[in-house]
Amino acid sequence: MILRLLTAASLATIALPALAQTAPDPVMGQKQFGQCRVCHTAEANGADGVGPNLFGVYGSKAATRRAKFSYSPALKGAKLVWDDATLDRWLTDPAAVVKGTKMTFVGMPRKPVRQNIIAYLKGLK
Ligand code: HEC
Repeated sequence: MILRLLTAASLATIALPALAQTAPDPVMGQKQFGQCRVCHTAEANGADGVGPNLFGVYGSKAATRRAKFSYSPALKGAKLVWDDATLDRWLTDPAAVVKGTKMTFVGMPRKPVRQNIIAYLKGLK
């Protein structure tokens, strides 16, 4: 019994700070989106740049939102929907998800950063 209590207590002290660190934070994500701004705007009515404006991208079908942006044939043919899992893979390594994409971005190795940026993108609607 005592052992069980101790185990529960120590699990809580280990688990709680870990959770606090990994909960996606859209405010942090907005800052971390700075690395994307070289190529993307994210505001409603923002212009396309090297990459398409990303307002409303979450939940959309890839390469369909921005009629005037010249998407690569590879992305147009990919038939992806930008949900959490697909965005997470895309931000890890775009070229691995869509061979021939013109998003020449090396990728973000850190999952917490990807999760923050996805949380930020989710709020843009
Ligand atoms: C060097 C420029 C560049 C950088 C940096 C960049 N992107 Fe892109 N991004 C592009 C281009 C170009 C495309 C269009 C790809 C295609 O058509 O194959 C694109 C496409 C996308 C799409 C798909 C849009 C759609 O309408 O389907 C998403 C989502 C995206 N980028 C997110 C990001 C995020 C988030 C970051 C920062 C972590 C980022 N990109 C960094 C250039 C960039």
